[in-house]
Amino acid sequence: MNIQWYPGHMTKTRRMMEENLSLVDVVIELLDARIPYSSKNPDIDTLAKNKRRIIVMNKSDLADPAKTEIWKKYFENKGFTVILSDAVKGTGVNKVSDAARVLMKDKIEKEKARGRLFVPIRAMIVGIPNVGKSTFINKSVGKTTAKTGDKPGVTKGKQWIRLKKDFELLDTPGILWPKFEDEEVGLKLAMIGSINDDILDTETLCTEFINLMMSIDPDRIRNRYKAEFDTIEEPHDILEKIAAARGFIKKGGEPDCGRAAKIILDEFRGGKIGKITLELPEDIRDMSAKTAEKEAEKKARDKERKAAYKAKNK
Ligand code: G4P
Repeated sequence: MNIQWYPGHMTKTRRMMEENLSLVDVVIELLDARIPYSSKNPDIDTLAKNKRRIIVMNKSDLADPAKTEIWKKYFENKGFTVILSDAVKGTGVNKVSDAARVLMKDKIEKEKARGRLFVPIRAMIVGIPNVGKSTFINKSVGKTTAKTGDKPGVTKGKQWIRLKKDFELLDTPGILWPKFEDEEVGLKLAMIGSINDDILDTETLCTEFINLMMSIDPDRIRNRYKAEFDTIEEPHDILEKIAAARGFIKKGGEPDCGRAAKIILDEFRGGKIGKITLELPEDIRDMSAKTAEKEAEKKARDKERKAAYKAKNK
């Protein structure tokens, strides 16, 4: 599942994506409804700039419905057609072809006016790993024919799946890279289980998750784990309290935070803590400000280091 993206790899994927995009009218971009910003490829707007676009907020069964509505409006205000889906159950999947037809209406009418009797629509599904692309395609087809490995871009021999008389989908999704320059995005992708846990150890990741939940909805954590804590406590102390409340105690009597962390993250990912969305459109500005701040700090540190080096080697 985990792809290591490196510059050459990205260039190749980009090229393949451009090639495939030239064959379609509509780009269907899958996002994870729990992190619609963090699961969005940073370059898709440039890559698909001349295409009609549909955003599918997948895994909406796991996301907070009120926040999903806020995100839906946010993307609609930016001119996107937005569909909510649960690809496992199939909810929303069938809405895509109708939405594509509405988006293509003017083109179809133009073609028909020119005398073409039949104007088929071709579309392609794109998204970062693990957002549910294969599940979505499989559900659209109704059987498991679209299973793919983690090949970035798409395979060479292109195949089309005819979903409706006038609607065809490229059978292999376009796998895109995530926004990895932003640390907070990386954390959220790890929290939902979209990138490998080995990047961060489970306990640190869970501590970050608890920290975030304290600002989103602390009662969800309180109620699920029957632990008493104050939201301003150190997140790791809260994790210790949860471990103790669950009876996860190591031999020496210390709380087993590693075990508690794994369970908390698994339960979050499985929707057992509730329907939770980790970000809102208003957080995006905060995140970019934080990233800019970090960049500035890094630049200042580099400058200091260079100055120290120069002084030393005078
Ligand atoms: P990808 O092609 O974009 O990489 O994603 P894929 O379809 O492989 O889906 C990744 C995981 O997300 C799968 O779970 C899949 O079942 C799950 N998934 C996809 N869409 C939805 C959705 O709308 N709701 C929920 N709740 N889950 C979804 P997995 O753990 O990898 O496998 P498994 O649980 O199916 O065994």
